[in-house]
Amino acid sequence: METLNSFDGFGLGLRTVHFNDYLTREIPVDFVEIISENFMIEGGRPLRVLDAVRERHAVVMHGVSMSLGSAGGLDPDYLARLKALAERARPLWISDHLCWTGVDGFNSHDLLPLPYTEEALDVVCANIRFAQDFLERPILVENPSSYVAFSQSVMTEWEFLRALCERTGCYLLLDVNNIYVSAVNHGFDPSDYIDGAPLDRVRQIHLAGHSVNGDLLIDTHDHDVPEPVWRLYETVRRRIPEAAAMIERDDNIPPLGDLLGELDIARAHTPRNREAAA
Ligand SMILES: [Fe+2]
Repeated sequence: METLNSFDGFGLGLRTVHFNDYLTREIPVDFVEIISENFMIEGGRPLRVLDAVRERHAVVMHGVSMSLGSAGGLDPDYLARLKALAERARPLWISDHLCWTGVDGFNSHDLLPLPYTEEALDVVCANIRFAQDFLERPILVENPSSYVAFSQSVMTEWEFLRALCERTGCYLLLDVNNIYVSAVNHGFDPSDYIDGAPLDRVRQIHLAGHSVNGDLLIDTHDHDVPEPVWRLYETVRRRIPEAAAMIERDDNIPPLGDLLGELDIARAHTPRNREAAA
């Protein structure tokens, strides 16, 4: 599998409510992330906007329904449509989540967690290899946030991710908020995660906010990035100097100017930028 070069920059998700901003003025981002499924359509405004944005910015594609954890394998029709979009968008890379989303044609529209067992590892590795062969490129796999753990698990999430990368040559999209959410929900130390994860495989970083529901944190992507997630991000960035980092906001989406302000905070929390400014 080919080597995927790092892309060092700061970006945002391309959301419908911001289409006009991107079409009418210069937006100070190095890349935009599209939700692949929103653009896997026949014509229409989203594709026209994508073509215009592609002229000015690098693009990454982020999917939500590859279902890498499905024991029944991946859907070739989905992969064919994803590949057609990639031919148009010419993304730096394509990512999806470490999860499963449905069974026998039923899509739960949730990113459901996996048990971290040897059996699940074999399934996910086979699916990643299939996707990479089909798409003719390595993919990025995103670490999930979780609220339940399986008693069957025989390894940690970071050991599972390391094995995936070693066996398939895939890369990682590291969601720092998801690490924080899972660490609080399951009571592990996030630095154990960072020490154990294969950080040399990280090409992209997600930053997001979450909701607090009693003792449980929920990965809702509808708030600003909170202070503990910024602190964890700083720790991560000391170990990953070059990566594409972005704010991931999917709900309660504010004006683009607010997100650009939050992206400036991300730049300021990146140790190398702070040292350069000192
Ligand atoms: Fe994410």
